[in-house]
Amino acid sequence: MASVMEPAADHLWASVGWILTAEGEEHIRPRTDEEWTLVRNSAVTIAESGNLLMMDRRKMDDEDWVAWSRDLIDAGDAAMQAADARDVQGVFDTGEQVYFACAGCHAQYWANDPNQFRQ
Ligand code: HEC
Repeated sequence: MASVMEPAADHLWASVGWILTAEGEEHIRPRTDEEWTLVRNSAVTIAESGNLLMMDRRKMDDEDWVAWSRDLIDAGDAAMQAADARDVQGVFDTGEQVYFACAGCHAQYWANDPNQFRQ
């Protein structure tokens, strides 16, 4: 989680947005091919971590756990497509979709027993 997913999700979430500065509103977005590739890589990492979460060693059940993992895969795939299309708003929107998959699973499983799941 902390070593694979968190950096990828942080990168995706930080890659687009708006900040207010003394000079006004500044639009944050990937500008070079290289920056877009990094966003794409993060999206792929997120989608792949959904697959890793469904491996038997990690999986907590065959129902909601798998559903949240699939949501994460779908969100990562959608973010990858948005990155491929150079779609800034799409990356922003799919970043939100990723956030809901992370937060949804945490709300359901993290609170129960934080020691059940490691790595
Ligand atoms: C299918 C369920 C599930 C999904 C989806 C999920 N997590 Fe988690 N995550 C957990 C559980 C359960 C814990 C708490 C147990 C633990 O690791 O101590 C956790 C813990 C964490 C931690 C605490 C550090 C750690 O390694 O324990 C971080 C950071 C984290 N998740 C980040 C994320 C991010 C970012 C996403 C989305 C990109 C995400 N998680 C998606 C289940 C999930």
